[in-house]
Amino acid sequence: MSGKRGVEFTPDKQFYQSYSTEEDKSRTNTHYEQPVAFFNAVTGGRWNVYSCNLWDDTDDQTASQEAKLDLMASLMNLQPGQRILDVGCGWGGPLTYLCKKYNVEGVGLTLSPSQRVFAQERADREGIRAEIIECHWRDYTDDRGFDIVYTDEVIVHFNDLGGFFQKAFDILKDGGRMVNKELHYTHSRYSEMTRGLSHINEIYGSTGNYRTLADELGLSNAAGFEVQTIHQIPLAQYRRTMSQWMSNMKSNRAELEALVGPEYFKRFLMYLKICHRIFYTQTMTMDIIVSHKAATSA
Ligand SMILES: C[S@@+](CC[C@H](N)C(=O)[O-])C[C@H]1O[C@@H](n2cnc3c(N)ncnc32)[C@H](O)[C@@H]1O
Repeated sequence: MSGKRGVEFTPDKQFYQSYSTEEDKSRTNTHYEQPVAFFNAVTGGRWNVYSCNLWDDTDDQTASQEAKLDLMASLMNLQPGQRILDVGCGWGGPLTYLCKKYNVEGVGLTLSPSQRVFAQERADREGIRAEIIECHWRDYTDDRGFDIVYTDEVIVHFNDLGGFFQKAFDILKDGGRMVNKELHYTHSRYSEMTRGLSHINEIYGSTGNYRTLADELGLSNAAGFEVQTIHQIPLAQYRRTMSQWMSNMKSNRAELEALVGPEYFKRFLMYLKICHRIFYTQTMTMDIIVSHKAATSA
């Protein structure tokens, strides 16, 4: 299949690949099973958030992570005692912060065994009520019900996003909210593969499924969700986040090269540079979609 400027990309290098649960796991883990210490240094701050943070009122890494998480909490309308599910919980910083500050109980899902161990240790150390489970969303079952199901830059990995929304709908209580933060193409024409996008997709084991906002809204509508709010985050915030991660890499270069090798260090830095450049174009937006499972009327 040919992409922009006549560059050839084989079918396995394209976006929108459908994999088995085991293959999703092994592919995403080519990324997330890199040493925890590597990601801790790259993401920085107290919570090691591996997604776009907010820098309006701060240059401090922890404060920028907390500002983003507070925004997510306000969009969730988090109330003490609620039960929340973080699908794709990374190293557990976001879920731990939310449980601690907002006095809620959490479950986190990840496909990465080392993330699970690190995230559970973090949660236990901070004394919050949270269970971290190594489980594909497809295989997750629950019989208590959640007030909130949320994701932060995770659903790009989900080829069957409609199936995920159906699962979220089924495990939410009536009136429960689903909150998803993700990048979206401003037009479907931008899904055409380029060298830069191909590099990004390879870093994640070719598990990319970038969509338009319209596509995502259509799928959540089909699952039964009603839209409440769409909050857009300016991409300048992501450029600032990426600049911070690049600066963290450069200032810890020797240690990080020792952890992952100079070749991977170079590939990773290149990935951040490409993203940073893309965020200057008008091809993507970053949106948080808040929808709910309407309480059934009697
Ligand atoms: C970019 S990280 C986001 C981490 C976190 N949300 C944050 O903001 O710091 C993506 C996470 O999604 C998880 N993930 C990817 N596919 C998944 C799946 N099918 N089921 C559960 N978790 C998945 C990965 O293991 C990883 O923890």
